[in-house]
Amino acid sequence: MDEIIKATAPDLEIPSQDFTGVYGSDPCTIVIVGATGDLTARKLVPALFNLYLNDGLPKPFHIVGCGRTRLDNQQFRGRMETALDAAGSLDRSKWLKFAESIHYCVIDYEDLSSYRDLAEFLRDLDEKKNAPGNRIFYFSLPPSLYKTVAQMIGRVGLAKEGEENNGWSRVVVEKPFGRNLETAVDLDQSIREYFQEHQIFRIDHYLAKETVQNILMFRFANSIFEPIWNRRYIEHVNITAVETLGVEHRAGYYEQAGVIRDMFQNHMMQLLALTAMEPPSLFQADQVRDEKVKAFKSLRPFPVDNLYKYLFLGQYGSGTINGNAVRPYRDEPGVNPNSLTPTFAVMKVFIDNWRWQGVPFYLTSGKRLAKKLTEIAIQFKEVPHSMFRKTLGQTIAANRLRLGIYPDEKVTLTFQTKNPGAKVRLRSVTMDFSYDQNYSGPILDAYEKVLIDCMLGDQMLFWRQDSIEHSWSFLTPILDECESCDNRENMLRIYEAGGQTPRLLP
Ligand code: BG6
Repeated sequence: MDEIIKATAPDLEIPSQDFTGVYGSDPCTIVIVGATGDLTARKLVPALFNLYLNDGLPKPFHIVGCGRTRLDNQQFRGRMETALDAAGSLDRSKWLKFAESIHYCVIDYEDLSSYRDLAEFLRDLDEKKNAPGNRIFYFSLPPSLYKTVAQMIGRVGLAKEGEENNGWSRVVVEKPFGRNLETAVDLDQSIREYFQEHQIFRIDHYLAKETVQNILMFRFANSIFEPIWNRRYIEHVNITAVETLGVEHRAGYYEQAGVIRDMFQNHMMQLLALTAMEPPSLFQADQVRDEKVKAFKSLRPFPVDNLYKYLFLGQYGSGTINGNAVRPYRDEPGVNPNSLTPTFAVMKVFIDNWRWQGVPFYLTSGKRLAKKLTEIAIQFKEVPHSMFRKTLGQTIAANRLRLGIYPDEKVTLTFQTKNPGAKVRLRSVTMDFSYDQNYSGPILDAYEKVLIDCMLGDQMLFWRQDSIEHSWSFLTPILDECESCDNRENMLRIYEAGGQTPRLLP
């Protein structure tokens, strides 16, 4: 193993001039721990390669993949190349140059001496390039290894900033961050033994989506929406993230997680916070994250003794997606044939504060539904008095604002107009803004954005620990109740794959 780890860093042809790429980050090395897993080939290396193609990486920049599998640099580069090729995103001549910055170290996650070798390898790499020793440790690992790996990195001195030939040191942790409140606190304490909060980047890729970032701009860079963004004008809010995909090859993880841990504890809670939070005084990471915490703190504790009224859980059965027959969840490879893991949930939640008192927020997420749709729909109240009631009846459809995240990246406002013609009639029309309208520049993929922000040390789009804990404090009692109640089986409805999204009635 050591001989692979100790391979001296080859000279890179990427010129190490004093130029730091278009985003201006410091030179650094990204150490991907768990690099032989799916995420590295599917998301991380393609995102880094794309940044390289667009001159978005600092110079010098290195990728060091670490994993248990015995590979050498060439074999690891070959794997990455094959993955990029399969995704159709390989410019071979550029790749060859980029690949020179990719290295591989075999690591035994439980063995301290492996990390000593890694530390030596990293220092050697930096010395050769006269680089400042800045490092990002990206955990692309099963969550059960987060604690061990964070501690080992700390024990060999790689978490210390500005000492022992280190520059800055950051750790990126993928979700799930714990599986309930207790384990999230415990995980945090282990990481914090060596890393401080400003060094910890807890990812939620939803936050890096352009259209999700836009929510705060939309709300707080316009004066016309904020005055009506409250209980006086809003009837309810629907936050939806449904997809056609099933569990794919992730049964091992998903069986333990289910939809609430997989989607609600992270993405849905962030969409809720962005929709409901108060305006921060400054657009800076801590101010924004302070307001999110306040929103989480205001969540009304879930009525666990009356769960069914506020929560619907489902699991996909068989059905048809895009014309193809798909198997039920319980027949998926790796899934327990009697599994009670929910793949779908709708939750009705309330935020107990002045702005939102009495306004229900419906959070809906699930797999194997008719289409992939992610959006926030704000349903306004009906007009208080209809002067058209004699001609048009009492009801006039109320305004609706949709913040489309996928597939339509657009903002749509629905309102009433007069239908042309002699007869008095109304018609609903929409005013649309498409996100790419009048913009032809590059759009960063969520992982590209996450990686850039991490290199820049900007934590705006990452979870802070207090928010994680408040969010778990809200969800843990629900999970406990769902997972321990006697009629667990009756709580779970089997829904048809490819069918319409079930909704909770207001
Ligand atoms: C991930 C979940 O975090 O988000 C997946 O683990 C889900 O189960 C995915 O499919 C959805 O992300 P997106 O960006 O495709 O909406």
